[in-house]
Amino acid sequence: MTTPANTPANTPANSSADVPANAAAWIPAKHARLEVRPAPSTRPGPDQLVVRNRAVAINPLDWIIQVEGSLTYGWLRYPTVLGTDVAGEVVEVGAEVTRFRVGDRVLGLAVGTDKDRTSAAEGAFQLYPLVSEKLACPVPDAMPFEDAVVLPLAVSTAACGLFQPSHLGLRHPSANPEPTGETVLVWGGSTSVGSNAVQLAVAGGYEVVTTASPRNFDYVRALGASAVFDYTSPTAVPDIIEAFQDRTLAGAIAFGTTSAASCVRIVRKCRGKKFVALANPPVSFERLGAPDRGRLAFPRLLARLIGSNIALQFAARTHGVGLKYIFGTTLKTNEVGTAIYRDFLPAALADGSYLAAPKPMVVGKSLDDIQAAMDLQRNGVSAAKVVVTLP
Ligand SMILES: NC(=O)c1ccc[n+]([C@@H]2O[C@H](COP(=O)([O-])OP(=O)(O)OC[C@H]3O[C@@H](n4cnc5c(N)ncnc54)[C@H](OP(=O)(O)O)[C@@H]3O)[C@@H](O)[C@H]2O)c1
Repeated sequence: MTTPANTPANTPANSSADVPANAAAWIPAKHARLEVRPAPSTRPGPDQLVVRNRAVAINPLDWIIQVEGSLTYGWLRYPTVLGTDVAGEVVEVGAEVTRFRVGDRVLGLAVGTDKDRTSAAEGAFQLYPLVSEKLACPVPDAMPFEDAVVLPLAVSTAACGLFQPSHLGLRHPSANPEPTGETVLVWGGSTSVGSNAVQLAVAGGYEVVTTASPRNFDYVRALGASAVFDYTSPTAVPDIIEAFQDRTLAGAIAFGTTSAASCVRIVRKCRGKKFVALANPPVSFERLGAPDRGRLAFPRLLARLIGSNIALQFAARTHGVGLKYIFGTTLKTNEVGTAIYRDFLPAALADGSYLAAPKPMVVGKSLDDIQAAMDLQRNGVSAAKVVVTLP
């Protein structure tokens, strides 16, 4: 039996003896603050796992959906459950699941906010979310759940941008990659997604040139970057162009509001693949969440969003640079999902060659703490992932 995905927040949990009581941090309506209430206990579909969630991580996406309402996720039906990053123990498996058994420790990407799902049962911010087998990975016994949970959306978004043929189409990661002789530009290597892009590109056999604040230079080098530049420096763009004079570009992947325009300016001057995979638009949504944001904040942001995108597309086309936005969950329906969650990540986490990065910043220990954790993420972090553990 599967409970309808968007059962209202006050629906009593399934009382069947073998189904545990569930609870979720619901977003009751557009723009509303999260509220913790009972949630239906939903049985897995054939290819799904029910996970007893022990830790969730916060991504910008979570508060962006909350503050923007329906600009990009207009398909969501409320009440619903946000969140993408899950880590815990498997408590039930669907009929066709072969890689996991009850009791296994896993991390997983929850995709309940995707347009083809719109399923509250698949949101991460609950005690028993559903996760697709294809988007789950075993967690080594020695790795705490709060470490493992930093990975799902970050590793998925990085993988979509680097490996999908529609984006950079790079060689997939492996344990002992042959060097390709090519270099990837990761703008924003100290972001959560960037930390994974650096590691995945290196595991594909590519050299990585990246950017970060000076305080994070050692951090991105430890992830495998060969050269790092301060993105706040006025000479960052010419310095990186200079660094690429004797390198062949495999493409660029861009994180951070200033990243897209900078990458286009660099890539057009490089030898190799002139393509930029973009994780975010060139405007910040952060102010939309401020209490004093003013009535015109939204139309102003919309105007800047449209204007900056037109300027970006124009600059790219004029200089023969390919440009494409990443949607970090598209790997669920293509070969990249399998390449990461089945073929690469399990062994790489087990042998320690892949780091759960960035480090978790644990700021709460129950569903009640998730809203404050989202507010904290919106105020900005540096090479850290905001995490809430669950009892
Ligand atoms: N398209 C998708 O599906 C998708 C999925 C996930 C995330 N995203 C987007 O990707 C971006 C990164 O997400 P995240 O979770 O990785 O972010 P995050 O970890 O919260 O980002 C924090 C980091 O951003 C860096 N930073 C700030 N401004 C920057 C700039 N102008 N250039 C380069 N780095 C900058 C800071 O580096 P320093 O501390 O070193 O200064 C800091 O470490 C966000 O905009 C997010 O919305 C998109």
